Amino acid sequence: MARHLITSAIPYINGIKHLGNLVGSQLPADLYARYLRARGNEVMFLCATDEHGTPAELAAAKAGKPVADYCAEMWAVQAEIATGFRLSFDHFGRSSSPQNHKLTQHFAGRLADAGLIKEVSEKQVYSHTDKRFLPDRYIEGTCPNCGYDQARGDQCENCTKQLDPTDLIDPRSAISGSTDLEVRETKHLYLRQSDMRGKLQDWIDSKTDWPVLTTSIAKKWLNDGDGLQDRGITRDLDWGIPVKKGTEDWPGMEGKVFYVWFDAPIEYIACAGEWAEAHGKTDADWERWWRTDKGADDVRYTQFMGKDNVPFHTLSFPATILGSGEDWKLVDYIKSFNYLNYDGGQFSTSQGRGVFMDQALEILPADYWRWWLLSHAPESSDSEFTWENFQTSVNKDLADVLGNFASRVTKFCRSKFGETVPEGGTPGDREAQLIEDIDKGLAEYQSHMDAIEVRKAAAALRALWAMGNEYLQDVAPWTTFKEDPDTAAMQIRLALNLIRFYAVISSPFIPDASAQLQTAMQSDDTDWPTDATSALAAMPVGHAFSVPEVTFRKISDDERADWQERFSGIRT
Ligand code: 2FM
Ligand code: ZN
Repeated sequence: MARHLITSAIPYINGIKHLGNLVGSQLPADLYARYLRARGNEVMFLCATDEHGTPAELAAAKAGKPVADYCAEMWAVQAEIATGFRLSFDHFGRSSSPQNHKLTQHFAGRLADAGLIKEVSEKQVYSHTDKRFLPDRYIEGTCPNCGYDQARGDQCENCTKQLDPTDLIDPRSAISGSTDLEVRETKHLYLRQSDMRGKLQDWIDSKTDWPVLTTSIAKKWLNDGDGLQDRGITRDLDWGIPVKKGTEDWPGMEGKVFYVWFDAPIEYIACAGEWAEAHGKTDADWERWWRTDKGADDVRYTQFMGKDNVPFHTLSFPATILGSGEDWKLVDYIKSFNYLNYDGGQFSTSQGRGVFMDQALEILPADYWRWWLLSHAPESSDSEFTWENFQTSVNKDLADVLGNFASRVTKFCRSKFGETVPEGGTPGDREAQLIEDIDKGLAEYQSHMDAIEVRKAAAALRALWAMGNEYLQDVAPWTTFKEDPDTAAMQIRLALNLIRFYAVISSPFIPDASAQLQTAMQSDDTDWPTDATSALAAMPVGHAFSVPEVTFRKISDDERADWQERFSGIRT
């Protein structure tokens, strides 16, 4: 048994996330966490809301609420939707937690002591129309790197380059659109990440097993010259973590807060502290996940995120960790994702385009979405959600292949042998072949899951389901029964055991359906199978079962057309 720390990129607090966000971090992280737990590992799976910065302030203002109240409410909304999608976080925290305040200020103090923070007098954009400084994201303009005309002041969405607001060409306020902007002088703290280039380079070079998407983005910005520029880590905002050097005030920094991207990844650590508090645990209990001097040296840490988050996780956050000079756990593996597009365009939160998590759950249960999203995860390239493809996948993979198998087998058994595993018959060549195929398929499935190759794992799982169907086609127990009921009993005994086997191995992808099938098989044996022979003998002769309710229903053409129409517009 190994120990695994898993974090998903923490979603911004403002608004409900769309399916593209979900498949880029939380959902694959959940898949991996469930798989590792199922295989007997000790897992700590953490996520939280990313609550600071201008977007939260503006969203709260728009909702007419104090920002703290707004965040508390939205945290509850996001937590409920996460439960709806069966995201199995050990803790869903908040970057505004007291733990994160303390830890962020602690890191800043350590970095200052190490000489890695400098005070810089800088020019910042002030909007006369909006009567406020316009930090990072709330200035839009043209990217100096690629020419994209809707780049934000913190990052260009198009080419992923990290930017400073003053880099933008033809800047305008994203709040009012005003170009009546003035550059004013103000003092800020900068993290001297350029001093850590060598250390970061060595560290990234040592990660030879990382996905190409992750290392290519990391190396691009590391070697690009200005990718590792010193970064401003403070902002002139009201809402955020007050700038302090550890527990002491920081002269000249009164009224300023840390930049949201400085405190957000620190929340990965603070979240473990929140978990400890929520469960009446001690500091030692969470530190054994995060401090290599306190037990975390045998932890494997995996992060999940969309590609736009990679620079912050491969450069900025490691710079914070390494720069602190303390024994914090560094990430071992970063799994990153491309974008999921929506029906010929992009999913977009700001433009309300696509299907959002709450809407998805209103029309179908979580497993339908989990299966489609994971089996189409944008790993090697961007992928696209279309309603046709969604309908086909659900109807074929879930309803025809898995659902139908469970239904046919249990109903046939009930009508011919009753609701217990039937006795009689001797397995022959076809059964031996099935066992061999399942063993091979299971090994393949596991190796893709171990490597977090999500699409390949889904395909391998689907192939295992299909083996059951092919077996059933070949041996046709309904025909066999007429001549040779004993042999039919043996075939059905095997098929019933396959249902339980499928329930166990499918649980990381479709946990609700798995639980339903497990219940129908009246089995509490959820141990991950070691081999097909023993797994397919787990339910012995005489073991009672019941016929499950419909596991997956089909999506009709009318429904599909209806949803396509309903989600073609813009969510307001
Ligand atoms: O892109 C986003 O949604 C960010 N809120 C991710 C932050 S991840 C981390 F740094 F905590
Ligand atoms: Zn760009």
